[in-house]
Order: sequence, then structure tokens, then C-alpha cells
Amino acid sequence: MTQLHQEIVGIDAAIFMHPTTWKASGHVDAFNDPLIDNKDSKKRYRADVLIEDYCEKYLQKANKEVEKARKRFGESFDEDMYRKTNPRVLGYLEKATEPTARLASLLEKEDLAGVKALIEELEIKCPVSGSMNWTDVRQFNLMFGTKLGASADTATDLYLRPETAQGIFVNFLNVQKTGRMKIPFGIAQTGKAFRNEIVARQFIFRQREFEQMEMQYFVKPGTELEWFEIWKERRMAWHQSLGIDQSNYRFHDHEKLAHYANAATDIEFDFPFGFKELEGIHSRTDFDLKAHEEHSGKKLQFFDHEENKSYVPYVIETSIGLDRMFLAVFSNALQDEVLEDGSERTVLKIPAVLAPVKAAVLPLLKKDGLPEIAQEIIDDLKWTMNVQYDEKDAIGRRYRRADANGTPFCITIDHDTKEDKAVTVRNRDTMTQERVAIADLKSYLEPKVAMSEWLKKI
Ligand code: GAP
Repeated sequence: MTQLHQEIVGIDAAIFMHPTTWKASGHVDAFNDPLIDNKDSKKRYRADVLIEDYCEKYLQKANKEVEKARKRFGESFDEDMYRKTNPRVLGYLEKATEPTARLASLLEKEDLAGVKALIEELEIKCPVSGSMNWTDVRQFNLMFGTKLGASADTATDLYLRPETAQGIFVNFLNVQKTGRMKIPFGIAQTGKAFRNEIVARQFIFRQREFEQMEMQYFVKPGTELEWFEIWKERRMAWHQSLGIDQSNYRFHDHEKLAHYANAATDIEFDFPFGFKELEGIHSRTDFDLKAHEEHSGKKLQFFDHEENKSYVPYVIETSIGLDRMFLAVFSNALQDEVLEDGSERTVLKIPAVLAPVKAAVLPLLKKDGLPEIAQEIIDDLKWTMNVQYDEKDAIGRRYRRADANGTPFCITIDHDTKEDKAVTVRNRDTMTQERVAIADLKSYLEPKVAMSEWLKKI
């Protein structure tokens, strides 16, 4: 964000903010999840997620039908036509989309009894007890409260921030003035966010403490939907530049818009438990800046010299969870492979640019001067990449260790190295080996692992 875009700058705002911030942003009154309990299993669920999962099941069924037909018809297959005309696919798609639309309208009207009735009508069962013995749906506020002050009676109620975005909004004018930023411009930050998630499950997918990477892009009112499309495209290109198969990503446009948005979409990723939100892209209008103006009594406006007037900018937001991004990359990368000789290996095929260790440096033996050559190689490479020395166990076991922790290259020093001043470089993914002169190692590895080379591909 900040390196490739001259008009985007970074900040690090506070986690504790004035309690009125959260009143202004609408979080105190409206940042709720509709929850429902199963009386038999005593498990608690997000009512909206139960319905979304139900719909996703039918979407997958429709996709399966399409794939079966693709195999049957081969080259002549017209997917578009098949989706529009095949009765079975149409039936599944209807079951996938109709409840989503009804859910959106019920939530819009805050009709929680209607949400429960929909769950019952769809005959959604508790995955644990298998029963439909549900409680009523209730709203739970997600704000994480704490206290500021020496004694209980004088303490002030505080909230841990549920999103980093508000730190950007309240600092909008500081950044615009000191950075002499002109519209359109962006402010980005990464930082901790906290939510009182009642249902924190699925490994690190939903946590109570997590790291967000957000960017607010301030634009001229009336241009926001154009910018929304531009940022949708840019963010998808960013995800796909990592080299993960494109079929793992899709957009999911919101039916129910948050109280501050006039357009919103999620970039969803195919996690081991199905397609789920990875990043949110929202057109937040001027809702936040205006609300902070009202609650603080201070103007948060931009003077546009071209138009010769001041206005409250509109905002496009891109918001991604770092932990969720990690889970997406990690779960996709971790693979158990059966090799040609029948043996098995666990390999973490993480993109080389993200791999914590870029190369393992392995002397074939712990003697005959081979460790000393390994050390020289490390001393040469360590300035530009993270490398790791490993001399323990047979070379095959060391390769497996490097595969499992995602190290993209292994550099082996053998007895020939002393003569030809070259090493064997093994590729984690293909397991092919190449002889590379020690003098050329840096220029061989750097284009494959360097952040700069990846940035150029975006
Ligand atoms: N400022 C907008 C905002 O916070 P959001 O959709 O609630 O929007 C943005 O959150 C991103 O933050 C999500 O796409 C997800 O990646 C991440 N995220 C949200 N809640 C999370 C949680 N409980 N645990 C981990 N990541 C979470």
C-alpha cells in the first residue's frame, strides 16, 4: 500500500480511544451479532452463519453438477447456458440465494424472530446434537470493554478498538495537513483489533484478538463507486499475485449493507472449511468523518482548490485480517505428497517471498572443511535473506525438515565443492537439483525470493 502508492501513507494509531469515538462510529449501538443456542448440545452459533452455511452447501451442489456436466460434454460445454437452463442446477441455486436475500431483509428490519423462523423453516440442525431445539435469536454486542482509572467508582468505561479504521478517521486531518495530501489519498495501518466474539472457532479464523491491515482511501463525493471498483480489482490482483490457484478466490457482494456503507464486497477464500471472508472492501460514504465531526465539534473536511470549496470526503476501505491471511496461505500450502518411489513427504508450499527461511545451508558431512564453507555461504547471503544452518541427520531427513517448514531452497555443500567451488541447490516444490557456482548463489536466489520481485508482479 504505502510503498507502491505515492498517495498512500501509513500511521500507527492508539488502541485505546476516547469512548465517544465508538458512540460516533455506531459500534456501541449497532456492532452486534445475532446468536442462537441449541438447547440440547448447549452450543452457541451465529444465526446468520448457520443460514449462510446452509446456502453455501447448495451452491457447492450446483457447482458439482456443473463440473459433472463439463466432464460429460467436453469441449462443447457451455457453462453459462447450463447454469441458466438445467433444472437441477437452477433448483440448487434457488436454494442457495433465496434464503440469503430473506436473511438480509430480516436483519435489516432487526426481525430476530423472523431469523429464527427461517432457521426452522430451512430445517437447519445443530451440527453437534443434530436437533432443531433452538433458543430465540438474540443480539450480542461485540465491543470489548475495560476500565480506565484508579478506583472502581471513578473509573471510566473504555473499549478496546474493534477495528483500526476509526484511528484513521480521527487522525484524518492531522495526516492530510502534515503530509500535504491531496484527494484522492489513502491512510493505511496494521494493528491489533479486539472483538468479544462469542463463537471464536475454526482454528485462527475467528479470534477475539487479531491483527488487521486496513486502508482508508479518501475521495471526492460522487466518485466513490468508481474507486470502489478500482480497489476491488487491485486487491484481487494483490491476492492472486501470490501464485495461489485463482479458483480459491471469489467476490461475495453484500446483500445487507452495514449502517455506514453504500457498496460492499468480500474477497472470499476457499478455506479447508469452505469459502469464507478473507478481506472486506467497503464504500463507507462520509458516514464516519461526519459522525466524528458531530460528536467532536471539529470540522473534518478537505479544501479542494480545483473546486474552490470544502467538503467531507467519501471513503473506500480495504480491510484484511493478517491472521486470516496467514491461515489462507498456510492451509493452502500445507500438503502431504506421495512421491514416485512410494515414500511420503509433508511439504509447506508457501510462496517463496513469504517463506520465513529462504534457504537451508547443509554441509553433507560435519567434517572435512564442509561446515566452514557453509558458514562462508551464510555470511554472504544473510544480508539480504534469512538462511538457516543445519548439519544434523542424513541429508534426506534434512531435506524433509526444510520441506515441512516451507524453506524454498536447500544448498548442499559436498566434497566436490572444494574442487569446483559449486553447490547443489534443491528446489522444495519440484525437488529438482542444480549445480550452482558459489559466486552466483546470490544472483540465482534473490530474484526467486525477494520482496521487490514479487511487488513488481502485482
Ligand atoms: N473496518 C472494517 C472492518 O473491520 P470487518 O469485515 O469486520 O470490517 C475486516 O473485518 C477483516 O478483519 C475481515 O475480513 C477479517 O479478515 C478480519 N477479521 C474480522 N473479525 C475477525 C476475527 N474475529 N478474527 C480474525 N480476523 C477477523
